[in-house]
Amino acid sequence: MPKISMPAGNAFCPQCLYLYGTYKENREPNYGLFTWATYCWDEGLRFIACIGEDKLTRDRIRATGVFSASVVGEALLPAADFCGNRPGYTFDKSGRMESVCGSVLEVPVPAESPYSFELSVDKILSLDDRKESEIYVCKICNVLADERLGEENGSFEERLRFASPVVSLSHQYFSVSDKPLGHWGEWK
Ligand SMILES: Cc1cc2nc3c(=O)[nH]c(=O)nc-3n(C[C@H](O)[C@H](O)[C@H](O)COP(=O)(O)O)c2cc1C
Repeated sequence: MPKISMPAGNAFCPQCLYLYGTYKENREPNYGLFTWATYCWDEGLRFIACIGEDKLTRDRIRATGVFSASVVGEALLPAADFCGNRPGYTFDKSGRMESVCGSVLEVPVPAESPYSFELSVDKILSLDDRKESEIYVCKICNVLADERLGEENGSFEERLRFASPVVSLSHQYFSVSDKPLGHWGEWK
């Protein structure tokens, strides 16, 4: 198949969307939208987040050492898009969605999110001398999930349809198909 070279980019690499929740100094919740995130393993599953420049979310993570990362389901997308395009420094986003407090950590969690991590920052990696880009390796202290995602509530595909996680590709949002393509290791 003929190939072309392209500039560095991730247009065809789906990324999950997360709302990162922190409490402001006045204890109101603040949310930002984030995609530069992944997982690693070190004595348990860890969450890895990259924050690119100064923003309220980062100030509050630095100040408290904790935050929530919530999967954006389709129902949450309008509020999530709002939070990703309005800086917390100048917009009060606390009323955009109903929040509950985490079960284990003092972090706000959107009531409508299907699946949320309560995270405590374990290691910080600065990518430049100006401390503009930072990577946070986080301990997952709790997973707060909608009770309808419990294994007793249907097949994985049914529960995936309920969670309806949104992914980002290029500069657009897409839904995830629940069409299964087979289990790991089936293609020997
Ligand atoms: C789809 C989308 C994905 C984003 N992903 C990131 C990200 O991974 N890292 C980052 O630093 N900013 C990211 N942003 C920008 C933040 O969401 C934005 O700066 C927001 O204002 C942060 O909220 P805050 O100002 O309340 O902290 C993203 C924005 C959008 C719309």
